[in-house]
Amino acid sequence: MNRVCELFGIEHPIVQGGMVWCSGWRLASAVSNAGGLGLLGAGSMHPEVLREHIQKCKAATDKPFGVNVPLMYPDIDTLMKILTEEKVGVVFTSAGNPKTWTGYLKEQGIKVAHVVSSSKFAGKCEEAGVDAIVAEGFEAGGHNGREETTTLCLIPAVRRATTLPLLAAGGIGTAEAIAAVKILGAEGVQIGTRFALTKESSAHENFKNLCLSLNEGDTKLLLKKLSPTRLVKSDFTSAVETAEARGASPDELRELLGKGRAKKGIFEGDLAEGELEIGQVASLFRHQQSVAEIMNELTLSTAVGK
Ligand SMILES: Cc1cc2nc3c(=O)[nH]c(=O)nc-3n(C[C@H](O)[C@H](O)[C@H](O)COP(=O)(O)O)c2cc1C
Repeated sequence: MNRVCELFGIEHPIVQGGMVWCSGWRLASAVSNAGGLGLLGAGSMHPEVLREHIQKCKAATDKPFGVNVPLMYPDIDTLMKILTEEKVGVVFTSAGNPKTWTGYLKEQGIKVAHVVSSSKFAGKCEEAGVDAIVAEGFEAGGHNGREETTTLCLIPAVRRATTLPLLAAGGIGTAEAIAAVKILGAEGVQIGTRFALTKESSAHENFKNLCLSLNEGDTKLLLKKLSPTRLVKSDFTSAVETAEARGASPDELRELLGKGRAKKGIFEGDLAEGELEIGQVASLFRHQQSVAEIMNELTLSTAVGK
């Protein structure tokens, strides 16, 4: 039996990554109902909104699902309390030190996975006592590692650094890519971009349609002085690039970024002013699909296995 399936009680070792403004209860429950593990993206939800999504997700599936918690979340104590009160079984943490919350979550009987972008941080995950590691490469949509290590190089390095169950993320959107990372040592995958563009994703149609028309080279990793983020090239990213080229300080970049740009771009569909987070793999897809269609495609191939 595959260790990732066993750990999370799922049929296929395919996790839908938590994604701000995309992964509410509709997307997460659809992935779980199709035999994967759906994750609610707490990063864009106020604590009580997260509670509502957890309850709706429970009503929409009797299969396991989890919550992604970016550890820089401002009101994280309240959020953690809600996860306990709602008896969430699985938490994927990211963007922070796994030592801070893993012990607390494990005491509550919650399974914990943490996202890393280097083998050094995989070691820290082991020390913190996580149950599984997600290693996410440079191709991925959203926030990313500074080192720019690609999935192809990262997975074998993390495989050498840890014996824990390992999921690969970044640039994975097809059954062939799943087979490839399994050969490199991963036991499962976390997919973001492809699920962000499904019918069940809560992203705006403008955002989905734009991403489904992208070509190779249409995304770029920017904002390395603040928090490196892969974005679709746009008027906004040109302004960021100009500022970065003249050596703008982190404070200047913060001011340029302002507040709420990811919501504006992904959820409200403002393609000029918004922050449009998506991965390189978007350029492989041209049509909006349902989660069930994608899961069928990803799991029917004999290459994927269980
Ligand atoms: C629109 C978008 C929003 C994301 N938001 C988050 C987030 O809130 N927390 C997180 O840990 N990862 C986030 N990610 C990363 C995904 O969870 C996942 O690890 C990544 O997308 C995998 O790479 P891929 O995009 O190549 O599939 C986001 C990705 C996208 C595309």
